[in-house]
Amino acid sequence: MSRLLVCSPDHYQIAYEINPWMSVKRGADPTVARVQWTALVAMLEKNCGATLERIEPVAGLPDMVFTANAGVVAGRTVVLSQFRYKERRPEETQFERWFESRGYQVKRLPPGLYFEGAGDMLGTRDTWFGGYLQRSDIHAFRYVGEFLGREILPLELVDPRFYHLDTCFCPLSGGEVIWFPGAFDRYGQAAIMDRIPAAKRIAVSEEEAVRFACNAVCIGKHVVIPEGSPVTMGRLEQLGYAPHTVGLSEFIKSGGAAKCLTLALD
Ligand code: ARG
Repeated sequence: MSRLLVCSPDHYQIAYEINPWMSVKRGADPTVARVQWTALVAMLEKNCGATLERIEPVAGLPDMVFTANAGVVAGRTVVLSQFRYKERRPEETQFERWFESRGYQVKRLPPGLYFEGAGDMLGTRDTWFGGYLQRSDIHAFRYVGEFLGREILPLELVDPRFYHLDTCFCPLSGGEVIWFPGAFDRYGQAAIMDRIPAAKRIAVSEEEAVRFACNAVCIGKHVVIPEGSPVTMGRLEQLGYAPHTVGLSEFIKSGGAAKCLTLALD
């Protein structure tokens, strides 16, 4: 079973610019955004068998739809995010309240450290990876690792277009990963290649990486991937996965897609 936290796009818009994808002059169409989001959640529930939990959207917090950035959840513990940009900081109390009211043990990092949750921390079966530099601080992972009792391998993100780890790296249920090597420095690339054997690495082209091919949601054998990445879909099929596509153009205008719109709760 897979439980995911989502937040409907009632107040979603491009209200500020905090990554290279966002332009206030090129707004998101609210009607199209709602249709796309509804299709995504329907696909997760009906085709992939996910259970969805919801948090109420809040006016003035347009990026709350990207629940991957709420924090990182392990069992009944959550390590809350501390956003780099002031525009997203008010989301912290919203997510904190949601977790507290549901009985989670809420852990906070020391003030002044940035950490953007599951957007920057992803695990395969035996290794956890933490993306840093663009949003999260490398030092945050020491605390997160202690809170959750996990070793986290830090990976430097060098391309501002791939500012969160989940925009360029996606672990799959069978131990494989989808990744865009160009988003990492040489050490990061070597660390990934050291931990994940070649047969389990799906390297995507830049062309598909900018269509958010790595921002996929994997639930068992199902992989929900943003449209426009046929080569990656073919590789997934060869590995025995069932890929499903969904159009998420209005969210890509904000620098997010399928994975960013969900937070794994178990
Ligand atoms: N506009 C949001 C931001 O820049 C998008 C967040 C996407 N989330 C993610 N997990 N990659 O913060």
